Amino acid sequence: MNIIWKKTSRQFHLYNDRISYIIAVAPSGELSNIYFGKRIHDREDFSYVIFRMGMPNIAVDADTETYSMELNRQEYPSFGTTDFGTSAFEVETSNGSCVSSFVYKSHSIFSGKRAIPGLPATYASDSEAKTLEVELVDEQAQMTLLLSYTIFEKYPVIARHARFINAGNADVKLTKALSCCIDLPDQDYEMVQFTGAWARERVPEIRKITRGTVSIESKRGISSADFNPFMIIKRPGTDDFAGDAYGFSFVYSGNFLGMAQGNTYGRLRILMGINPERFTWLLRAGDTFETPEVVIAHTDRGLNDLSQTYHRLYNNNLVRGRWKNQTRPILNNNWEATFMDFTEESILKIAAKAKEAGVELFVLDDGWFGERNDDFAGLGDWVENPRKLPQGMAGLSRKIEAMGLKFGFWIEPEMVNPNSNLYRRHPEWVLAVPGRKSSLGRHQLVLDFSREEVVDYIFGMLYKVINGASISYIKWDMNRPLTEVFSTGCSANEQGMVYHKYILGVYRLYSKLIEAFPDILFESCSSGGNRFDAGMLYYAPQAWCSDNTDAIDRLRIQYGSSYGYPIVSIGSHVSAVPNQQTGRRVSIATRANVAYFGTFGYELDLNEISPGEFEEVKAQIEFMKQHRQLLQYGDFYRLRSPFETDQTAWMVVSEDKKKAIVGFYCMKSNVNTLPGSIRLAGLDGDTLYRMEGVEYYGDELMNMGITLSQFYKKGFTISEDYSSFVTVIDAI
Ligand code: DGJ
Repeated sequence: MNIIWKKTSRQFHLYNDRISYIIAVAPSGELSNIYFGKRIHDREDFSYVIFRMGMPNIAVDADTETYSMELNRQEYPSFGTTDFGTSAFEVETSNGSCVSSFVYKSHSIFSGKRAIPGLPATYASDSEAKTLEVELVDEQAQMTLLLSYTIFEKYPVIARHARFINAGNADVKLTKALSCCIDLPDQDYEMVQFTGAWARERVPEIRKITRGTVSIESKRGISSADFNPFMIIKRPGTDDFAGDAYGFSFVYSGNFLGMAQGNTYGRLRILMGINPERFTWLLRAGDTFETPEVVIAHTDRGLNDLSQTYHRLYNNNLVRGRWKNQTRPILNNNWEATFMDFTEESILKIAAKAKEAGVELFVLDDGWFGERNDDFAGLGDWVENPRKLPQGMAGLSRKIEAMGLKFGFWIEPEMVNPNSNLYRRHPEWVLAVPGRKSSLGRHQLVLDFSREEVVDYIFGMLYKVINGASISYIKWDMNRPLTEVFSTGCSANEQGMVYHKYILGVYRLYSKLIEAFPDILFESCSSGGNRFDAGMLYYAPQAWCSDNTDAIDRLRIQYGSSYGYPIVSIGSHVSAVPNQQTGRRVSIATRANVAYFGTFGYELDLNEISPGEFEEVKAQIEFMKQHRQLLQYGDFYRLRSPFETDQTAWMVVSEDKKKAIVGFYCMKSNVNTLPGSIRLAGLDGDTLYRMEGVEYYGDELMNMGITLSQFYKKGFTISEDYSSFVTVIDAI
């Protein structure tokens, strides 16, 4: 890994074993992207890539009249001169002009990586990464722009963000500040987006790229299930096992925009950052604004490799604290078992049975506070309801711990019900436009987390509950999008800052709680997977993947989530049948076989299942305890897509390739068809493995594949809906 500055040609080459990223100071003084892709040899000057023919285009000035930004590839394109594509940022100066031109002034190269104040970001020690910061200035606007690039030693990844500084005396407005731009030299690519809605999150969908724009975005104030803030730009032939692709992962949890734009000269522009719609940041003299980070990865080995890059990077360089690289406790959550209708006694009964089964952590979900007996009341009143918890959280947590279980609970700190003491006391603390009706979502309003005093107040209430009790885990939920976004804490010309300030407030509350209680394991949640993003992983190392707990639907949801997010971050539980979302009846074996590939837990009352099933649950928990290191941290391979066929398969392989676990699932039976075989991946070709008592070489399993009919007696058959089989493969 290194970053070279070539003084004569004024070019930077960032490289490691797998990738090269080359930037030039263009004839205009702005930065031009020369190359990003598989590692190439260095040379003193790559400017042969810069297009300088005298085409009938507009040039920046007489000195550079053969150079047009439009015909060349830009690093961070500005608005208003010769580019004409979508700009990466826009600065409105005091005279109302939005034209800007930031030219190279200086740069610094240093080991490691700087944090971005108030925002989540990947981090790295001095030996893990190197960073290039390029300083550009616009003299006219009296603004400085710092573009930051970090290259990691071990990963084919560049992390990028931008910093704006108002170096003048007048106010300026940033009306757009995306985090990155990559211009590619041709348009023979497709975009893979991860779309969905509540209960059907992160469906991979492929869109053709051509001239014009394809984009994904959120305007909900959360990253959203509509479009996940992660996209892949791949060659048409690239699949999970081979081919070129770029990943763009936004380390942010609010409104965002991701786009791919082909121009008429064959250039493909990729942009990602905070959604410019309803974003305006007022920069007073001396103020700084930093964008969130985008983590850009490249592979020439297919999408499993791209996903593994994100899995490893996020486990090692994004997740922090006590739970970094730790296997996760097997939990029992009471939500689908009781909803809000519980007493301390009924909770203790569920917990006792969970303990008997081998569960390690009990989680009390929604309904323990204020007058929270249904969706209509209580949010905002973070004080235990004495009718449900007579001795408070402290009493319940001690009783559960006395059983030998750890204990955790649910919160939804960003919300308030109009029917709550908090709202009655502070109606001005919600996001709402004065004089205008506010839209309710699940009968609740959104607290104005752009105001520090609101965040501090909620922290104070939660601190009291947590501090008095014995708490190992918190599930932080968020159950409605932001609407009527207006803050009484901001002036009229600051209202465009509210969406972003809100997210900064969310991050600040997370930081305060983590600082006060560093051992607590946080799980993020937003009506299931509405805020399943890399930003959240910095604070909460796991996320409730979806409210849809049906094992067959979960195959799709977890498969889709695995493209951009580590397996250990995917909250996955066994729930009751018939499933509450789909009505489907799936065996307890298949429910567990799906949930193993995630955090693993139970979302039901184990008193309610048959004695035979209870014995199965005990064995499942034993299996998970024995194999969770591999299941949660092994190299994950998608083998067969549930979006393309009626069977799906995936596997994990240990780093030393001595052990693997494969899951096969039949989502829909197929009559009078042949089961065929499936090729495994990631093993060592020369190693002899044992699977189900039979010996195979790795190369047999990976090239010839295994015939699926051999598992018929063991649970999986293509002739039975929802059958499945999980098997362990050991090197001999
Ligand atoms: C939505 C979550 O996704 C569920 O798991 C549960 O916690 C409910 N909210 C509680 O209100």
